Amino acid sequence: MAMFMPQLREAIMPLHDEAEKRGPLREIPEKTMTLNNYKKILGRLYGFVSPSEEVIESLLASYSVDLDWGERKRVGHLENDLTFLGETRKTLEMLPKCVEVSNIRNMFQALGIVYLFEGSRLGGLVLSKALREHFGFGNYQGYAYFASNGAEVVAMWQTFKNFMENHVASNGGEAEIIISAKQGFDLLNGWLDSY
Ligand code: HEM
Repeated sequence: MAMFMPQLREAIMPLHDEAEKRGPLREIPEKTMTLNNYKKILGRLYGFVSPSEEVIESLLASYSVDLDWGERKRVGHLENDLTFLGETRKTLEMLPKCVEVSNIRNMFQALGIVYLFEGSRLGGLVLSKALREHFGFGNYQGYAYFASNGAEVVAMWQTFKNFMENHVASNGGEAEIIISAKQGFDLLNGWLDSY
C-alpha cells in the first residue's frame, strides 16, 4: 500500500509554500522583523497553539492514542519566550485565542493538526537560527518555541512519521486527516495574517 505521509505532505505543501512566501513569519528568515512584531507574532501563535494543544490533549486521551503527546506540547515554550520578551501571566491571559480550533472534534481531525505542529518544528530550526543571528538571542531564550527548546527535532519527526504510518494502517482516516491538516493550515494562516 502507498505510504500515507508523502500524500499528506503533498496536500499541505501548496499552503505551506504560500505561508512561507507571503505569511508574516517570512520576515524572520528575511531578517526584516522588528522585535515588537516578533512579540506580536508569538502572541498570535500562543492564541492558536494554546487552545489547540488543549483540544488535542483531550481527544488523544479519550481515543487512547499512543503518542508521546506530553513531550511534544510546546505551549510552555511560547510562554517562556513571551515572558522573556516582557509579557506577564496577566498579559498572557489577555491574548486573544482562536475559537475556531473547537472545530477539532475527533481523533482524525486532531491528528491532522498534530501533523502541522510536528512538521512545523522542521521549519522552526531554520527560523531559530535566523532569530539568533538577527536578535542576538541565545540559550533558548526568546526562541525556545521555534527551536523546540533544543529537542532532537529530526529524530522526533522520524518517530512521528512512523507513528502516523502505523496509525493509519490500523485505523484508516486518511482523508479526514488530510482535510483537517489543510483546514488547520488555512485557519492558522488567516489567524497569523491578522496579527
Ligand atoms: C517562514 C516560515 C516557514 C519556513 C521557513 C518553513 C520551513 C520548513 C522547512 C525547511 C521544512 C522542512 C523541509 C521540507 O520538508 O521541505 C518544513 C516542513 C514543514 N513545515 Fe514549515 N516552514 C515555515 C512555516 C510553517 C508553518 C506556519 C507551518 C504550520 C504549522 C509549517 C508546517 C510544516 C510542516 C507540516 C512540514 C512538514 C512537511 C512534510 O514533510 O510532511 N511550516 N518547513
